[in-house]
Amino acid sequence: MTTHKNTHNIKLELENARILSSRQLALLRKIASLSESLHIPAYLVGGFVRDYFLEKQVNDLDIVVEGDAIEFGESLVKKYGGKLTPHTKFRTAIWNLPSSFIIYPSSLDLITARNEIYKTPGALPTIKPSTIDDDLRRRDFTINAMAVRLDGDHFGELLDPLNGQDDLEKKLIRVLHSRSFIDDPTRIFRAVRYAVRYSFILHPSSFILVNPESFAVLKTLSGERIRHEFDLIFEEEKSVRMLAHLHELGVFDVFNPSLPKFNNKYSNLLDASAPAEFGFSANRITLGYLLWFMDSPADVVEFFSKRFDFTSELREAALAVAQLKNDLASLTDAKPSKWTMRLEKVPLISVYALWLASNQPALKDFLVNWRHVKTTITGDDLKARGIPTGPRYKEILFQLRSAWLDGDVKNDKEEEELLNTLL
Ligand code: CTP
Repeated sequence: MTTHKNTHNIKLELENARILSSRQLALLRKIASLSESLHIPAYLVGGFVRDYFLEKQVNDLDIVVEGDAIEFGESLVKKYGGKLTPHTKFRTAIWNLPSSFIIYPSSLDLITARNEIYKTPGALPTIKPSTIDDDLRRRDFTINAMAVRLDGDHFGELLDPLNGQDDLEKKLIRVLHSRSFIDDPTRIFRAVRYAVRYSFILHPSSFILVNPESFAVLKTLSGERIRHEFDLIFEEEKSVRMLAHLHELGVFDVFNPSLPKFNNKYSNLLDASAPAEFGFSANRITLGYLLWFMDSPADVVEFFSKRFDFTSELREAALAVAQLKNDLASLTDAKPSKWTMRLEKVPLISVYALWLASNQPALKDFLVNWRHVKTTITGDDLKARGIPTGPRYKEILFQLRSAWLDGDVKNDKEEEELLNTLL
C-alpha cells in the first residue's frame, strides 16, 4: 500500500498499486479522462478501496459518478465501445467492456451517487441522486465507505469521511448508524463475511445491534435474498467458519432452530477439487449446501429448500444425498449392478458429496467406472434377431449390463453367450 500525503488530501499512488494490473490502470485512466471532459466527477468506491489498503486481489470495480450513471455509461460506450446494461430504477448501469480490453473483471458497475431511504425495514430502498459524500454515508460499514476520485488532477485522491482507514488498521467492522441492520439485515451476513475473511471483529457498538430487533426484520426477508447471502458465503474460502459465526450470533435460530450446524467433520471437504478421473467438476456452492444438509432428515431439507428458495435442482440434490446417506449401510455388500441402479437415480454431485463425506469406495467406482459401462449389444441387435419390440428389450439389456458390471461377462463373446441363454 502506498499513500502520498499533500497538504489537503491523501493521494493513493494507483500507478504503483500492486493489486492493479496495467490494463486495469489503463481502464481507470480512460474513465478518468471522460469524466474530466464531461465535468462529471467519478470515483472508485467500496471494495476496491478497502482491498487496496489490504493489498488483496481486486474482484470488482464499482464506479460512482456525481451525475447520471446511465448517461455516463452511454458516453463510455460511445467513446470506447462495449455494451451497456442500464437499470433505470436505481440509475445504475453495467458496462460490459469491449473484448479488445482483455481485462478482468470483464464488466464494471456504474452508480449514480445517491441517498437511500428505507421506507420499510428490510425492504429495498428508494433512492435520490446526491453527492459522493451522501453516497458513502448510505453504505454498510466504514471500511466500505471510502472512495478514490479519478477525474483530472484529482486522480488518486482518497475520500474517507467515516474513518474507514482507521477501522481497517484496527481490524474493525463498524456500521455507520444504529439502524443499519434494521434497514438491511443482509448486512449481518456481510459483517460476518468480512470479519471472518479478514480476521476482523465486529465493533462492540455494532455487535449490540445484532439483536432481537434486527433479527425480527431478518426473519421477514425473502428466501431468495437469504439464499443469495448463503451463496456468497459458500463462494468464500472460509465459508464453514462464517456459518459457525452466524450460528454463534443466533442467526440460524431466526430461520428455525432445526437449521443444522455445518458438521465440522466436513469442513475440509469443500476445498477439495474432484480428481480428474471423476470426469466432472463440482460447483462449490451446491456442494456447500449438500454437505450442510447431508445429515438432516428429509422434512428438514424440504423445509429449508422452501424457506431459502432452493432451485429445484438444489432441492433434489440435497434430498437425494440425505436419503442416500441413510441407505448406505444397506448397500455396503451389494454387487456393482445394484449400486449402479441405485446411484443412477441420484444427481452426480450428490454421489460425489457423499463420497467425500464417507469415503465409500463403491461411490468412487461408480463415478469413475460403473456409470460409463455399456453393453455391446444394443436394441438394434435385438431387433435384427427378430425379437419383438417391447418391455422385454429393457429387461434383456438390463441383465446384460448387470453382467458386465458384476464381472459375469468379460468380453463380447461371453455377452453373446449370455444373450443366447436369456432368449
Ligand atoms: N453495500 C452496502 N450495503 C449492502 C451491500 C453493498 O452498503 N447491503 C455497498 C458497500 O459499500 C460495498 C459496495 O456496496 O462495498 C459493493 O457491494 P459488494 O459488491 O457486495 O461488496 P464489495 O465491497 O465489492 O465486497 P466483496 O469483496 O464482498 O464483493
